[in-house]
Amino acid sequence: MKSNGQIPKKGFPLCPLNELVPCVGRTFKLGELKISVFKTRSGKTLAVQALCPHRGGPLGEALCDEQLLICPLHGYSFSLETGNCTISDKYQVKTYPTFVVNGWIYLDLSTFPNLSLSNAQS
Ligand code: FES
Repeated sequence: MKSNGQIPKKGFPLCPLNELVPCVGRTFKLGELKISVFKTRSGKTLAVQALCPHRGGPLGEALCDEQLLICPLHGYSFSLETGNCTISDKYQVKTYPTFVVNGWIYLDLSTFPNLSLSNAQS
């Protein structure tokens, strides 16, 4: 997470940080990409794919702590750092970098050079 007051060119604004409830997800659709964004109790922000790799559960309705995200459908948990499932090594969620500038959370687009955000919504 960066917070030096400068907005990097490759960041897409998602929402004000204070709109996120700690440990509760919020889902955004950014063109073809659907992500679920979280703020931990310590203020760390992160984003993961919106659908659980197990059976498509809504990860935006998941709860998290500082290390794990728990899918609301069957309770599989995933590392916020690696995306690895802690119950089965068959599953992994894709994680996306975020950063905060001036109280807004941004998706770091430096890893999405071809992402079209013309239909972004939450
Ligand atoms: S759909 Fe997420 S644990 Fe089953």
